Amino acid sequence: MARILITSAIPYINGIKHLGNLVGSQLPADLFARYMRARGHEVMFICATDEHGTPAELAAAKAGKPVEAYCAEMHDVQKDLAAGFRLSFDHFGRSSSARNHRLTQHFAGKLAENGLIDEVLEKQVFSIDDNRFLPDRYITGTCPNCGNTSARGDQCEECTKQLDPTDLINPRSSISGSTNLEVRETKHLFLRQRSLRDKLEAWIDSKTDWPILTTSIAKKWLNDGEGLQDRGITRDLYWGIPVKKGNAPWPGMEGKVFYVWFDAPIEYIAGTAEWADANGLDDAAWERWWRTDKGASDVTYYQFMGKDNVPFHTLSFPATILGSGEPWKMVDYLKSFNYLNYDGGQFSTSQGRGVFMDQALSILPADYWRWWLLSHAPESSDSEFTWENFQSSVNKDLADVLGNLVSRVTKFATSKFGTTIPAGGTFGPQETALIADLGARIRDYETLMEQMEVRKAAAELRAIWVIGNEYLQSAAPWSVVKTDPEQAQAQIRLALNLIRVYAILSQPFIPDAAAAMMTAMGSTDWTWPADISEAMRALPAGAAFSVPENLFRKITDEERADWQQKFAGVRT
Ligand code: MF3
Ligand code: ZN
Repeated sequence: MARILITSAIPYINGIKHLGNLVGSQLPADLFARYMRARGHEVMFICATDEHGTPAELAAAKAGKPVEAYCAEMHDVQKDLAAGFRLSFDHFGRSSSARNHRLTQHFAGKLAENGLIDEVLEKQVFSIDDNRFLPDRYITGTCPNCGNTSARGDQCEECTKQLDPTDLINPRSSISGSTNLEVRETKHLFLRQRSLRDKLEAWIDSKTDWPILTTSIAKKWLNDGEGLQDRGITRDLYWGIPVKKGNAPWPGMEGKVFYVWFDAPIEYIAGTAEWADANGLDDAAWERWWRTDKGASDVTYYQFMGKDNVPFHTLSFPATILGSGEPWKMVDYLKSFNYLNYDGGQFSTSQGRGVFMDQALSILPADYWRWWLLSHAPESSDSEFTWENFQSSVNKDLADVLGNLVSRVTKFATSKFGTTIPAGGTFGPQETALIADLGARIRDYETLMEQMEVRKAAAELRAIWVIGNEYLQSAAPWSVVKTDPEQAQAQIRLALNLIRVYAILSQPFIPDAAAAMMTAMGSTDWTWPADISEAMRALPAGAAFSVPENLFRKITDEERADWQQKFAGVRT
C-alpha cells in the first residue's frame, strides 16, 4: 500500500467555474484519487478556494458585499457544487484560512532569513481620487502590444501579454474610472528567484518522467530572456495575508499583503493542516504528508492543473519551497491539461460563455458530465464541447452500452429465475474466454489509470463494457433458456457478477451509477478485481439482487436543440 498525495489547482473564488475549468484540474484529480483509493492506497486529496488578489476584491465590490462575506459565501457555493459533481476531496479548504496565514508568513520569514528577499522601492500607479495604489486589475488601459483598449494591469486578455500597470497607455482606475493618477514610490518584497535558478534546473532535470507539455513550459520559463525573473511577492491591497516575517512584524511593510500567487500554492499544505484541524488531529497527522523529516519521504505527490498554471508550479512554488531550506515534500508528478473549447469558441468566465457547473447540474446528473468530460479530456491537444457530441456519447456509451446491459440482464433474470442469483450450470468455454479477455483488458485499464492517461482509460473502460454486451449477444441466454435452463442460469450468474465488476471498475468515472449497480447486486464488496476469475464468482448463488432504476436516460434531439439555444448566449 502506497501513500499518495493529490492536489488540484485551487479555483479562484470569483464566480462559479465552467466545465473547462472543471476538466482541467479538479475532475481528473478526482478520477485519480478515486482510482488510487479503489486500489487500496492511502490517499490525501486536497483542494481549496483561491481567495485573495484583485479579482476577489473587484468581484465583491461588484456584488456590493464586503470581501470577507463575499468569499465566505462563494466558498460555500463552490463547495456545494464540488459535492454535486462528487469530487471526493479529503478537504476543500480556503486560502484565507488562519493556517494559510501562518504558513505563508512562515515561508516568507524563512526566505528572508536565507537572504532570498530583496526590499525594493518600486514605482506604482496611485489613484488620487480613490486614495490608493492600483495594482494588477485595478488599473485598465490600452495594451502597448496590441492596442486593446481594455487591457488590465497584470495582463492583456486579447494578446495574453503579461503587463505591469505602468506599461498601460491612457491608464484609468478600474474602480472609479478616474484618470487622476500619478506614479508614487512604494516598497515591495522580491523573491530572488534568479539565485535559485541552478537548483530549480537540477530539480526539473531530475523529473525525467514528466510529460512533454509540463517540461517544455518549465524549460521555456527557465531559459528565456523573460524567464526566471526575481518576483514581486507583495501588493498594496487590503485583502490578503498581511506581510510578516514569521510571527514578527516586517518593518516598512505595514498595511501590505502577499501577492495571491505567493500564498495560493502554500494552501495545498495549509489545506492539509485544515483537514487535520477539522478532524481533531494533531500536527503530526498532516506533517506526515508534507515533511520529509516527519514521514513524507514515502509519499508520492501528484499535482493536476491547466497548462497556464504550469510555470507557477514548476518554478515559483518550488522556488518558495527550495528557498525555505526546509524538508518539505515537493511534487513528483505534474499532470497538466490543454483547454476545452465550447461550441466553436472559448469558454469564458468574464464573458459568461459556455456551461457553468451549476447550470450543468441543473439539467443532468453529475455522471453524465463526468463521463463526457473525462472521456474527452484535453490531454494531447485542446478539445471541444459540442452538444451533438455530448448527446451522442451519453446516448451511446452510457445508455446503450452500459445502462442497457444492466437493465436487460436484471430484468431477464428476475422474470425467469426470480430475484436471487441463480445457482444452476457451470461456466463453459465462452464464459472462460470472456473472463480471460476481461482480465487482460483490466490490466490495460490499470496501467492507463496509473499513467493518468484519462481519455485512453475511458476508452478502455468503454471497451470493457462492450465485450460484456458482445458476450450476451452471442451467448443469448433468452434463447438458451428454452432448451437448457441450467446453462442459461450460469450465463446470467456470470452477467450479474459482471455488473458488480463493472461497478467497481467504473466507480472513478461515474460514482453514482456505480453505487446504484452495486446496491442492485446486493453487495457492498468493492474489492478491486485483481483476480478476475475469482471476482466473476463473487456473488453467492441464492443471494438477493434487484433491478435498478434506469441508470441513464437518453438525451432527446429536442433537449439538445433547446440546451444549445439556451447556452448559446452569455450568462448574466
Ligand atoms: N486560482 C488559480 C487558477 O484558477 C490556480 C491556483 S493553483 C495554486 O488558475 F497553486 F495557486 F494553488
Ligand atoms: Zn494586448
